[in-house]
Amino acid sequence: MGTSKGREPKKKPENREMKGAGTKMLELKNIRKSFDGNTVLDDISLEVQDGEIISILGPSGGGKTTLLNVILGIVDVDSGKLFYNGKDLTRVPMEQRGFNIVFQDYALFPNLNAYQNIVYGLKNRPGISTEQEVQDLIELLGLQEHLNKRIEQLSGGQKQRVALARTMVMKPKILLLDEPLSALDGVIKESIKDRIKTIAREYHLTTIIVTHDPEEALTLSDRVLIINQGKISQYGRPEEIIGQPKNSFIQEFILNQLEIKRNNIFSLFQCTAAV
Ligand SMILES: Nc1ncnc2c1ncn2[C@@H]1O[C@H](COP(=O)(O)OP(=O)(O)OP(=O)(O)O)[C@@H](O)[C@H]1O
Ligand SMILES: [Mg+2]
Repeated sequence: MGTSKGREPKKKPENREMKGAGTKMLELKNIRKSFDGNTVLDDISLEVQDGEIISILGPSGGGKTTLLNVILGIVDVDSGKLFYNGKDLTRVPMEQRGFNIVFQDYALFPNLNAYQNIVYGLKNRPGISTEQEVQDLIELLGLQEHLNKRIEQLSGGQKQRVALARTMVMKPKILLLDEPLSALDGVIKESIKDRIKTIAREYHLTTIIVTHDPEEALTLSDRVLIINQGKISQYGRPEEIIGQPKNSFIQEFILNQLEIKRNNIFSLFQCTAAV
């Protein structure tokens, strides 16, 4: 569990139960899933602590979305078990789990505008977020001027932010994010990353976030789960992954990528300094 600064929530939201960080919240035991005879999740066992931010990192087709869908409850496992606060949820339907996801393709309602999408879930469960909290989130995500737009009028990054807001207003027990930053770039990406982190800390939200990007995973999260071809390659704190890579996959695909990026940036700044 990370001990990085900023771990404590800045304020105590009134309508959310606060629990001490560091207790085991989610546990997956020997999860297996195949599609059409192809093993997609191969004996996945892991624990997530209450309030942690976890990144799932790995190549395309490696099983990241399937793993999120198993946790969410829209994909049934072939074998293995999933526990939430010690309770067996393996066969509990999605609606009763109280988790929520931002899908890779956003899955926004095209017949509703941006604001209506954001508050949609509150219709059935009013009071989860106050009007002020909704406004704060809209501001935090920079969506004020887009609220009346139809979904088709939004850019990819704006849709992504609407999808984030729609999910976060529901203050799910576990927030699942499938590549929430892939359509964002540069400074906006960095600031949204910061916002996700701030919101997760403030609401003590256990967050599991899928990404392709090692830098994103290692800077955003308390622990990183690296999966490759359906197997856990390494699960650890960013400094463990960097300092003690467990195998050649981590070394070659994750660390070498970071090294190349770092060297490129260094050489760029050295050139500029020399001018
Ligand atoms: N419903 C399904 N039916 C059949 N095969 C599936 C299904 N869902 C996923 N798969 C297969 O399982 C494998 C893992 O897919 P998954 O979507 O979990 O990968 P991913 O790591 O999220 O990839 P990406 O980074 O491209 O989103 C792929 O080979 C995919 O084709
Ligand atoms: Mg995916």
